[in-house]
Amino acid sequence: MENNNSVLLEMKNICKSFPGVKALDNVSLTVKRGTVHALMGENGAGKSTLMKCLFGIYSKDSGQILLNGKEVSFKTSKEALEHGVAMVHQELNQALKRNVMDNIWLGRYPTVGPFTSEKKMLADTAAIFDDLGIHVDPRTIMSTMPVAQRQMVEIAKAVSYHSDVIVFDEPTSSLTEEEVEHLFRIINMLRDRGCGIIYISHKMEEILRISDEVTVMRDGAWVATEPAAEMTMERIIKLMVGRELTNRFPPKDNEIGGVLLEVEGLTAMHSKLRDVSFNVHKGEIVGLAGLDGSGRTEVLENIFGVATRKSGVIRLHGKEVKNRRARDAIKNKFALLTEERRATGIFGILDIQENTTISSLKKYKVKGLYLSRKKMEESTEWSIRAMRIKTPSQDTKIRSLSGGNQQKVILGRWLLTDPEVLLLDEPTRGIDVGAKYEIYQLIINLAKEGKAVIMVSSEMPELLGVCDRILVMSGGRLAGEVDAKATTQEEIMTLAAKYA
Ligand SMILES: Nc1ncnc2c1ncn2[C@@H]1O[C@H](COP(=O)(O)OP(=O)(O)OP(=O)(O)O)[C@@H](O)[C@H]1O
Ligand SMILES: [Mg+2]
Repeated sequence: MENNNSVLLEMKNICKSFPGVKALDNVSLTVKRGTVHALMGENGAGKSTLMKCLFGIYSKDSGQILLNGKEVSFKTSKEALEHGVAMVHQELNQALKRNVMDNIWLGRYPTVGPFTSEKKMLADTAAIFDDLGIHVDPRTIMSTMPVAQRQMVEIAKAVSYHSDVIVFDEPTSSLTEEEVEHLFRIINMLRDRGCGIIYISHKMEEILRISDEVTVMRDGAWVATEPAAEMTMERIIKLMVGRELTNRFPPKDNEIGGVLLEVEGLTAMHSKLRDVSFNVHKGEIVGLAGLDGSGRTEVLENIFGVATRKSGVIRLHGKEVKNRRARDAIKNKFALLTEERRATGIFGILDIQENTTISSLKKYKVKGLYLSRKKMEESTEWSIRAMRIKTPSQDTKIRSLSGGNQQKVILGRWLLTDPEVLLLDEPTRGIDVGAKYEIYQLIINLAKEGKAVIMVSSEMPELLGVCDRILVMSGGRLAGEVDAKATTQEEIMTLAAKYA
């Protein structure tokens, strides 16, 4: 048995600067054996950067890292892995064209002459998967697997290195509830074996449930480290934001007008979405609730035309619109913020301004081919301000922003297309509590301008706090509709189970 709760990892006075940003300012973190240590902070607080300094992706400017009492300074992530430090990234970075086994063992499998022993590799992989309860064929090509499974492969890789320290950077943002439970079982198992787990997430409930200790960072600095058992949600929020956040939702003062959007008999070609009909009024915020796989995202995708409709009619202002592809939909004044925005929406090598204005270029045209730089700057500035995007400048490359701030840029991009109908899929996923408030306020303001908003969210309090009406999906069908002010979580859950 390991000496439980002895110090495993110490990071002392870590500093790290990027051009124009002091990302880490004297941050210290101590992780004990056999514990889960949560790392929290607003978007851009420096959580991922701190972990990347540990993992050999960034080199720290100053400070000390001690692993089992010995100073270490990994130059590459391979070196970190070989010394028992593993990291499951916010953005999975895998060789997608190769299979599962290759991703786990690449570059280190014992060879027999010039050959790797495929058979032993298969057996070893199977043994780890068995241990972790992962049901995946090790020969599957990565690109054909859903994100959740790819993440499991990453965890298996960490385990295969017999890692002592495992960092999870927002691991659950695209997992279903069931997958989250599986992940938590694995994390608890690793903890019981004496690993030190560092867990980054914006989901308060998760943090309070899984962690033993919580460290909060703000603006690149350490703020507090306390036992999770003594923490409350209010206290964490206060430490993160630096002030009391008395309300999690802004007051609702949007006025609901006449019918703007009519959806009739929406049935999908390639999913089980069947016969969905509803209206959305001008100035109304309609929520789409339901379990994972109930068809919420499909409703948005079918309206927007990125998924193929089998039948059904969509009318805007009483006139039929035919969105056959995204381009039609944008022209017809629809906007869709997708759930997988980091994978599908980001032009990494372009800067913030380009990423912000790319879908609304028409707005900036002056005289033929020219674009007004000034107008583009103004729009980008609006977006940065409205959502408190943390960036040194507009010409910073988007990929150097923190994960949550990248998401805000993409949301800004869609808001700038002046849509009449906004389709938002999990608009606050990966966004910190303070910025969530700003985004709720933006959504309410858009409704006040007379736009129709449909938003999918897995967070029930968010639907109850922001929406006027909530439609509940179940098994690809519309199971019912409730008034957000009068309903309860129980009522929504009951409807969600209706055809599931
Ligand atoms: N490669 C880089 N180049 C320039 N700046 C960077 C780079 N990586 C991070 N930063 C900056 O460092 C700061 C901290 O970013 P970091 O990604 O650590 O935040 P985070 O706490 O993980 O936020 P989130 O919750 O949004 O993921 C941000 O201001 C970010 O823009
Ligand atoms: Mg991060």
